[in-house]
Amino acid sequence: MTSSFSQDHLTGIDHLSDGDIQSLLDCAHIYADAIEKDKRYASDKLAGKRVLNLFYEDSTRTRASFDVAAQRLGAQAFNIDIATSSVNKGESLIDTVKTMEAITLPDAIVVRHKEYGAPGYIAQHTGAAVINAGDSWREHPTQALLDALTMQRCVGELSKLTVAVCGDVAHSRVAGSNMILLRRLGATVRVIAPATLMPQKFPVDGIETADSLESGLPGCDVVMMLRLQKERMQAGLIGSDDDYFRVYGLSYEKLALAKPGAFVMHPGPMNRGVEIAPDVADDPQRSLILKQVFYGVPARMAVFDRLLAR
Ligand code: NCD
Repeated sequence: MTSSFSQDHLTGIDHLSDGDIQSLLDCAHIYADAIEKDKRYASDKLAGKRVLNLFYEDSTRTRASFDVAAQRLGAQAFNIDIATSSVNKGESLIDTVKTMEAITLPDAIVVRHKEYGAPGYIAQHTGAAVINAGDSWREHPTQALLDALTMQRCVGELSKLTVAVCGDVAHSRVAGSNMILLRRLGATVRVIAPATLMPQKFPVDGIETADSLESGLPGCDVVMMLRLQKERMQAGLIGSDDDYFRVYGLSYEKLALAKPGAFVMHPGPMNRGVEIAPDVADDPQRSLILKQVFYGVPARMAVFDRLLAR
């Protein structure tokens, strides 16, 4: 395994070198193998290291996954409940970070924030390694890493795959990081979205586009669905949930347009009956959704390993 990793932080996929990406994915596969072999797998590689989880936006799987990843490597994780913190009393982002740093003395800070570029901003004010757990609609690098890991383990070599990224692409940081990483790994990426949810520009070149599932799904090996990010959307961009599902929701009928046996992905949380039909989401042969959640832990262990074990 190559251990070359040139970064002090993980604020996005965009500035990772090819070697960094390879190093992270190689390491993630090793941890995935270890956990698949022994569900009690634990290492003391990061014993004594301290991780501060600072989530300014809601999270279920991402926060839990970072927490478990830290624990499996022997690090101690501190989860601060920002929803009930002094942020509500007007404390600035950096004052909160400095305060939590003084209490927890972290080696790494995992941050999710609604502001564009917040993790990079924090990185300028701390000696800890900063890991972006999702900022605005820009990037969610560990989601893209766990998605690539899932596809490599369950589907095949990415350079041979066509991956459809469907739905609210304009407001999705998952789509942002996936477009960059999938193109870097040689996949064909096809964005399928209504005009109102199609980004005006893409973070990388070579993205194919389609405005309907009917025109975009033929030839796809993987269909990645996205949640409608209503919290980041101006009013009026879409009609009712029922109308949206009829046209852009993934049903078996629509999935049949993709390659035979094509796989279905979704970063969660899902809105069943809005972007995806429940029977498709729960299909044990076609849906990789819980695999994505499972591989989130080794993917994040790899990020901690590369940033902290040196
Ligand atoms: C995503 C997020 O927060 O960006 N969730 C996740 O981390 N798995 C996607 C979403 O909220 O729709």
